[in-house]
Amino acid sequence: MTDDTFGLAHEESGEGFPVILLHGFPHDHTLWAAQMTGLEGHCRVIAPDLRGFGESVATPPYTIDRYADDVIALMDRLGIERAVIGGLSMGGYIAFSMWRRHRARFRGLMLIDTRAGADGDEAKQRRAQQIEVVRRDGVATLAPRLVESSVSARTRERHPEVVERLLAMMSRQPAEGVAGALQAMTRRADSTPTLKTIDVPTLIVVGAEDVATPVEDARKMHEAIAGSTLEIIEGAGHLSNLERPAAVNHVMSEFIARLIYA
Ligand code: MLT
Repeated sequence: MTDDTFGLAHEESGEGFPVILLHGFPHDHTLWAAQMTGLEGHCRVIAPDLRGFGESVATPPYTIDRYADDVIALMDRLGIERAVIGGLSMGGYIAFSMWRRHRARFRGLMLIDTRAGADGDEAKQRRAQQIEVVRRDGVATLAPRLVESSVSARTRERHPEVVERLLAMMSRQPAEGVAGALQAMTRRADSTPTLKTIDVPTLIVVGAEDVATPVEDARKMHEAIAGSTLEIIEGAGHLSNLERPAAVNHVMSEFIARLIYA
């Protein structure tokens, strides 16, 4: 893990064409372990721990725009002018904010198991309860409650080791960062109007059994983003990259290769 004095820790592998992968909630950069090894032959893969997660600083403010600006600061620090930005779920919300605020920094966009819309009342209520649980009982109590909506039934039945790894990853995140992210997501902007402004090559990936950000949401993004590609990963739920890593690595590396060799 790179020791970064400015506050955002990150891992990287490979070289050349830069690809930045933003994890979801409540994860850290290890969500992308299979992509770090699977894509490193094609490009330079950089996976930060977002503010309040992993080994990064756990200090407020926690807002989607702040997470976005943190990633831009990391790019500046690494001397990266433009990159493919990929975000899973909460990472996708951050990618939309980056696009609105820093679109010149994009060579392409990968939206993985995410959605453009903001939280409705039900989601806001659920998050308020989750903040209470985290503050009262800790992240390790919340983590098992998130598993069912995170991975498909197939993954739960056939790959208990994936569920175990996920639980361990979620449970070790700092309570402050987790509560902060819940607040940030509740307050996030509706990115639906942003979709039609996206004019860089865009790959949309979704698990066929994603219940958190279903295929229907992915189709809406696909229809609104001109020229985008939609890939549906069979047998995967909300964490398609973790559940079917070879399939996701394949669609990502095809997408990245098209950009490199265009
Ligand atoms: C995620 O995986 O980042 C979460 O499902 C996002 C959310 O709770 O909206």
